[in-house]
Amino acid sequence: SAIVTVTKDNVKAAIVDSGYIPASSLKNLDSLSASSSSAAPAASGKLEMFSWWTAGGEADGLNGMYAAFKKAYPGVEIVNATVAGGAGTNAKAVMTTRLFGGDPPDSFQVHAGLEVATYTPDKYLQNLDSIFASEGWDKVFPKDLLTLLKYQDHYWSVPVNIHRANVLWYNKTVFADNKLDAPKSFDDFFKVADALKAKGIVPFVFGDKEGWESGHVFETVLIGTLGADGYRGLWTGKTAWTDPKVTDTLNTYKKMLSYINTDHAALTWDGAGEYLLNGKGGMQIMGDWQDGWFTSKKFTNYGWAPAPGNSGIFDALSDSFAMPKGVKNADNAANWIKLAGSKAGQEAFNPKKGSICARTDCDQSLFNAYLQSAGKEWSSNALVPSVVHGAAAYEKWATAYKDTMALFVTTGDVAKTQTALQKNCVDAGVCK
Ligand code: GAL
Repeated sequence: SAIVTVTKDNVKAAIVDSGYIPASSLKNLDSLSASSSSAAPAASGKLEMFSWWTAGGEADGLNGMYAAFKKAYPGVEIVNATVAGGAGTNAKAVMTTRLFGGDPPDSFQVHAGLEVATYTPDKYLQNLDSIFASEGWDKVFPKDLLTLLKYQDHYWSVPVNIHRANVLWYNKTVFADNKLDAPKSFDDFFKVADALKAKGIVPFVFGDKEGWESGHVFETVLIGTLGADGYRGLWTGKTAWTDPKVTDTLNTYKKMLSYINTDHAALTWDGAGEYLLNGKGGMQIMGDWQDGWFTSKKFTNYGWAPAPGNSGIFDALSDSFAMPKGVKNADNAANWIKLAGSKAGQEAFNPKKGSICARTDCDQSLFNAYLQSAGKEWSSNALVPSVVHGAAAYEKWATAYKDTMALFVTTGDVAKTQTALQKNCVDAGVCK
């Protein structure tokens, strides 16, 4: 077999060919590996990274960041520890057990915001304040994001992206063939849904197999009905869960659910997405990891719009990586955290993940049309925190909310559900 001499240039070419890292990001990687290799002996050993990204654009994005890490630290073996399940449905419990049981991975995925409290950070996590300072991260992450990340006055994780939760995706051909436009209001939504139904197309694609998806869609219906301030107030006690507008929201959502596919309970968010791919479904409300999934499927025939009533409002969440105390590979963990916050790391990750950089200085030409538009809206829209994805409330409340809304799909009981939503707020200590 042919012997190929490994040079810096053919390694670069191979990485670009693999599609994991855009050529333009390699310049940044050069400086990263140069500074690390001159300061210390070559890094070796392992890096165990824990997440729930197992397939599609999620795995592709993560692999992109792994490739960037491998380029900088070729001697380190990456152990990709994953527990499947969207929104961390299964991963979070496993992570808690490992952390509290004294067997932490070197780094793990956690949403920016109150979710970090679940892990008792002052006891189990390393605070990253000095890395934030040495990497100059207070200047490259937006102020609102820095505020969201700080818990008990410290930084516990580095944000790798910004996701938008309140997006309506649609199949462009289905819409064009039926002379439909993306709905702006709930009235529009029902008109479009009726038109699709009459054609035998599933109007509203839905998959709620994992139990978080209903709460996800419902948060966008709350935003669309209560507006940015009204929605924010639900999580601070300023908006009452007993308000008649919440009743309206539940009624609207119930009506939306009358247009879903019958096999919804058997499908995950991406499984349900197949209806859009094959043109058997019209619309789906899901976060923009859907964009990454479409990209991984080489599907480009999709359009997007804010969920009904959501225009001008960006329902935000951010994935971040934390570093437990007492990790087995401390240097590798610190290098991983630094890469995750770097321009090169974020440019390798986000175009495939279907998210925009948490940093403000990424090269926009690396991103597709949807992500470029999301970038603009992130900096111009009113921002509200996602509850299902860790930003708006403590985990216990977020879980109770999620379970209440999962049940609603089968019961459709508006009054009981509103009472339960109110009780969740009381139990959380936010409502009286
Ligand atoms: C979210 C996470 C996203 C994506 C999504 C679906 O909670 O922030 O990155 O993984 O779940 O799995």
